[in-house]
Amino acid sequence: MAFRLGMVFVAAATAAALLVPAAAGATGDAVRGQKLAYTCLGCHGIENYKNAYPNYSVPRLGGQSEVYIVAALKEYQSKARWHPTMQGQAAQMSEKDMADLGAYFQGPKRATSDGKVVGTPPPAAAICAACHGPDGNGVTPDYPSLAGQHADYIEQSLHGYRSGKRQNAIMAGFAPQLKPEEIKALAAFFSKQKGVYTTRKP
Ligand code: HEC
Ligand code: HEC
Repeated sequence: MAFRLGMVFVAAATAAALLVPAAAGATGDAVRGQKLAYTCLGCHGIENYKNAYPNYSVPRLGGQSEVYIVAALKEYQSKARWHPTMQGQAAQMSEKDMADLGAYFQGPKRATSDGKVVGTPPPAAAICAACHGPDGNGVTPDYPSLAGQHADYIEQSLHGYRSGKRQNAIMAGFAPQLKPEEIKALAAFFSKQKGVYTTRKP
């Protein structure tokens, strides 16, 4: 067990070092983003809206990092992430569309840690903290905030990195190591932290 965790820590440090830090501020045009977001809010703007077959919550985007939203949309566009609806949504988007949408959903300030952790972190959360922060708020905008995200969506995405439906070099190094019960505990813990929220329809 100690050896396995040691390996993961080395992988975390290496992966973090490879990432070029991104600009902290928003670069997209949030006003244009709001107009583009009209269709998105039909799903992302409704509290507890569900994806059908399989049934899980549509992710919260409010306060999520613009940099990460752009990265995620590019992954749906390139089909590195499997999800027919989101692949369709992203198919015709330009880089500017993605940045503007990201700026709108992120809002003036992305969700960041206030230094408070709610409840006791499960042991496996120590591995995630290097990038996602102790409370699940990304330490830089490159890393998505898991804090406040729906637990069933966190579980779904971790299973996606395990099965290869989501291809991401970094998370492919972490997700397969997690046991199903660890995934449940991590998802429950991060979902209870203060972080992302549902963007309401204006
Ligand atoms: C029909 C419902 C629906 C619509 C419309 C929709 N989405 Fe999504 N979106 C989803 C679902 C479901 C997921 C989770 C997919 C998965 O499991 O990877 C998702 C995932 C995402 C993610 C990844 C979030 C994360 O935490 O990784 C982003 C970013 C996103 N959507 C942005 C948008 C934008 C921008 C629009 C509008 C242009 C949009 N979505 C329209 C249902 C929708
Ligand atoms: C070395 C940095 C790093 C570490 C350590 C790490 N992650 Fe990640 N994580 C990322 C990156 C980068 C992404 C975005 C991947 C993508 O674009 O699909 C991500 C994405 C995720 C997502 C998808 C979020 C969403 O909104 O769809 C979840 C869930 C997640 N990580 C959970 C974890 C958990 C749980 C751990 C600890 C066991 C962990 N991560 C460890 C870097 C890391």
